[in-house]
Amino acid sequence: MNHFHYRDGRLFAEDVDLTQLAAEVGTPFYCYSSATLERHYRVFAEAFPKDTLIAFSVKANGNLAVLKTLGQLGAGADVVSGGELKKALKAGIPANKIVFSGVGKTRAEMKLGLEAGIHQFNVESEPELVALNDVAASLGKRAPVTIRVNPDVDAKTHAKITTGTSENKFGIPWSRAREAYQLAASLPALQIVGVDMHIGSQITELSPFEAAFARVADLVKTLRGDGHRISRIDLGGGLGVPYAPTDPAPPAPELYGAAVSHAIAGLGCELILEPGRLIAANAGVLVSRVTYVKEGEARKFLILDAGMNDLIRPAMYDAHHEIVSVREGTGSSLYDVVGPVCESSDLFGRDRRLPEMKDGDLVAILTAGAYGAVMASAYNARPPAAEVLVRGKEWAVVRPRMSDDELIGLDRIPGWLAP
Ligand code: LLP
Repeated sequence: MNHFHYRDGRLFAEDVDLTQLAAEVGTPFYCYSSATLERHYRVFAEAFPKDTLIAFSVKANGNLAVLKTLGQLGAGADVVSGGELKKALKAGIPANKIVFSGVGKTRAEMKLGLEAGIHQFNVESEPELVALNDVAASLGKRAPVTIRVNPDVDAKTHAKITTGTSENKFGIPWSRAREAYQLAASLPALQIVGVDMHIGSQITELSPFEAAFARVADLVKTLRGDGHRISRIDLGGGLGVPYAPTDPAPPAPELYGAAVSHAIAGLGCELILEPGRLIAANAGVLVSRVTYVKEGEARKFLILDAGMNDLIRPAMYDAHHEIVSVREGTGSSLYDVVGPVCESSDLFGRDRRLPEMKDGDLVAILTAGAYGAVMASAYNARPPAAEVLVRGKEWAVVRPRMSDDELIGLDRIPGWLAP
């Protein structure tokens, strides 16, 4: 359910006409809907007990305005870098609702987290435990720690976004979990608080989650038997969203919530979840203008002013995103929808049925609110798309597009090349 709808033949974001918005802010731009973000957050939160910490995964959409919108509803944040930590804090998310994940936290990032007083560090390796202990000791603090265990479950998702099998870099292998906890317990500046897992992203079946949750619940009992104080369970993110109308519907949050409750019943643990995509994906679209309609020999191309530098998911994961005309119409022509970047993979969709399009028309690429703007680059010296947040009739540019000169101004000429 989202708040992008046609009204009188034109696509609106809530009460904002995207055609008018495009004329005011220029294309391409991401447009996020506050009502959709809020609705997704609420539907998800309501599937869990009231005291659950819903730590929005900032990597999915790190715009300060989006973070603030969610933070005001009570969301915490799951961060994976010092930059994301600073963003979450700047958006007003309290430190005690922030969890710090990621395989490569540097000592400087650990220091930032400790000084801010974050809720916990989700530690992913033995050397990271040792480093965190050193940093905490040097600050005279104790670091609250969970260990991310790798439940070795196949998430049945795209190979580039699966994380829970023994083949990838994430988490501590299942077979070493107890030893890792032993190590953590021996390090005086660490305070073990719980167990963490995350098996992958865009997971559309319940069974991999159920298998992983059951393993983690068993581990909690084993670790308690070993004498550790386990009071929190962080189950990560990963619940998928439908990208194409033909996609099987991913499990509803209520079913996911029921699976979680079933798995952790009776353990008396604080529950933490780290959803990203589920909250943000359908709350955003990428609006782009047709630069040319090009008749190729075999195919008809719709060449947009947005490129793979703005939205890399199709090129990187062969991801499907629906593409619609901002002017409502019935699909009458097949187009390959492409960007201007000099790569054959700069292709948003093949054989897409759209109304007859002409230069200057607008399209919206849907389900682009997660892993869209955050993954943008300036490839081909193209400043990434602007970002706009809508709320009812109101809208605001929440990240302006950099000018060419600002982008070029980031480079420096060394002395030996100066005139
Ligand atoms: N927690 C951890 C530890 C994660 O690694 C991730 C995502 C999440 C939570 C949030 O997962 P979500 O609820 O959004 O599935 N760029 C890829 C997705 C990469 C996901 C990385 N980790 C894409 O565009 O599909």
